[in-house]
Amino acid sequence: MSDAASVAEGRIHEFTTHSGADTVEVGRKLAMLLRPPQLLLLRGELGTGKTTLVKGIAEALDAAQADEVTSPTFTLLHEYGGQRDGKPVQLYHIDVYRLESERQLETLGLDELLTPDALVLVEWGDKFKSIRKKATGEIAIESAGGDARKITVTLRD
Ligand SMILES: Nc1ncnc2c1ncn2[C@@H]1O[C@H](COP(=O)(O)OP(=O)(O)OP(=O)(O)O)[C@@H](O)[C@H]1O
Ligand SMILES: [Mg+2]
Repeated sequence: MSDAASVAEGRIHEFTTHSGADTVEVGRKLAMLLRPPQLLLLRGELGTGKTTLVKGIAEALDAAQADEVTSPTFTLLHEYGGQRDGKPVQLYHIDVYRLESERQLETLGLDELLTPDALVLVEWGDKFKSIRKKATGEIAIESAGGDARKITVTLRD
């Protein structure tokens, strides 16, 4: 894993990984950068490693073991209680891949989830304008050939 540039006052972070385990490790590091409340889009093609990254984030927050974090494709939402610097963090892992309309999305009640201690990570969230508007940043994962992935984290204010 190479931990590359931290650009523009730490708002953009780039990493390159070469295995799933590497990406879990990046997730562990990222957890320390993500101060709640935060709603992040998890972007990337099918199978690039979005859920894998959440495993590391959940572990670092003492919210779940990596193997307990599974894809919320069918359940839409998984919630884990964790902590960061002794303060509680509610980690919400959401996957809206199967949702087709803003109306279906309303049933999720995203606004109610975004409490001051919430870290909301939404796979395929960029599909919906209403989620893009609420997002405080994004994590984009791109395939870089074979098992290599480029992970770019952009945090707005
Ligand atoms: N560098 C890497 N980073 C992350 N995962 C990798 C990497 N190399 C190989 N993999 C494998 O790719 C798969 C990624 O699956 P994962 O479920 O995390 O993807 P996803 O982006 O959440 O997919 P989906 O859009 O279907 O939800 C895992 O099987 C993982 O082991
Ligand atoms: Mg996934």
